[in-house]
Amino acid sequence: MRILAISGSLRPGSHNASLLRAAGELLSPLDTLELWEGLREVPPYDQDDDVEPAPPAVAALRAAVASADAVLIATPEYNSSIPGALKNALDWASRPIATNVFRNKPVAVIGSSAGMFGAVWAQAELRKVLAAMGARVAEVEVAVGRAQDRFDEQGNLLDDDVRELLLDALATLSAETRPVLAAA
Ligand SMILES: Cc1cc2nc3c(=O)[nH]c(=O)nc-3n(C[C@H](O)[C@H](O)[C@H](O)COP(=O)(O)O)c2cc1C
Repeated sequence: MRILAISGSLRPGSHNASLLRAAGELLSPLDTLELWEGLREVPPYDQDDDVEPAPPAVAALRAAVASADAVLIATPEYNSSIPGALKNALDWASRPIATNVFRNKPVAVIGSSAGMFGAVWAQAELRKVLAAMGARVAEVEVAVGRAQDRFDEQGNLLDDDVRELLLDALATLSAETRPVLAAA
């Protein structure tokens, strides 16, 4: 399984990027996880610019999602919702709606925030958006609250309970992906 990992945070020291890297370390040798680094380059969505050829950063995003077997998104929470940059990128990826690259794509949403609840509201809204785009949203539960206490200065995950949750989430995402690959 080739997983495209998307962090909803632009910060180099992002806890959500660290969470995705921690997930990558738990994969079986047959699976791969690539962290997408292009979020900052995606322009603000403008329907008049949504023509072929797409802006290069948008084309790169669409190609990365299309070529992945599954997508793992880790989101922070901004004002109880999805960070604008991530929502903006998904709006680009969602067009054209009938054939968008997320349609039928297995996707898992996880998240981390500074608050107690681990970005649960942002995660819920993200799942709603992805479902509206036609993605196969896996039922996983990884909400890492008080992120500043769960990673060291280098971004290494310090919490074995979170590691267990990540393992469960990866297994669920894999189970969601297998039938899609088999049917391809
Ligand atoms: C504009 C803004 C709004 C925020 N709103 C929330 C919030 O509603 N709930 C929360 O738990 N944390 C909130 N935070 C704190 C983030 O959860 C925290 O900065 C988190 O570590 C960001 O994720 P990152 O480390 O991946 O960048 C907010 C931070 C910013 C900058």
